[in-house]
Amino acid sequence: MRGMQISSDHPLLLSIVDDLAERGWSQQDLFLPPALVAALAAECRQRAAQGELAPAAVGRGPAQEIREGIRGDRIQWLESGESSACDQYLALMDALREALNRGLFLGLEDFECHFALYPPGAFYRKHVDRFRDDDRRMVSAVVYLNEAWAPEHGGQLRMYLEQDREHDVAPTGGCLVVFLSGEVPHEVMPAMHDRLSLTGWFRRRGNEPF
Ligand code: OGA
Ligand code: MN
Repeated sequence: MRGMQISSDHPLLLSIVDDLAERGWSQQDLFLPPALVAALAAECRQRAAQGELAPAAVGRGPAQEIREGIRGDRIQWLESGESSACDQYLALMDALREALNRGLFLGLEDFECHFALYPPGAFYRKHVDRFRDDDRRMVSAVVYLNEAWAPEHGGQLRMYLEQDREHDVAPTGGCLVVFLSGEVPHEVMPAMHDRLSLTGWFRRRGNEPF
């Protein structure tokens, strides 16, 4: 799998760009190949077993807090160069970043992402990903790493779309969901089993004075 490449004009990426332009979100059920899903899932479980995943915080900067009544997942931020599987994922996301810049002129400069594990019963209440005091996050991208997921396992991503429409996505391995970070409220419903994902945000340059 090492060296798997995707060009930023791959049809899959172009259709994500089109979806975002038309309606602000996209779902690709077969985005990550099964072997990469398996490798990333194994890595997420290994990190969890080694105690590397920490309770996720809500908010940003000094106002950050752990609030399990809002979100109960455990996370670890990703760096490049940690493993072949993670680097392949980062390369795919970088191709998507280029495609988004080319198609939507978003000026996305970087991508921050973390593994997330929701233990049974954990959830993430309805929220928007862009922070009130930091508008750098432009596009959210979540890939799911759960190899056998059935509807009765719960754990759907529920997106609140225009005209009071809701759209649920099952966190099935290989599925990618992308949406505009400032515009799509969403929540994670409680799951019966560990729910694994990689969640990330494409960001533009900030306007901070420091
Ligand atoms: C998040 C989030 C959605 C998901 O981490 O901000 O909303 O389906 N995740 O895991
Ligand atoms: Mn979110």
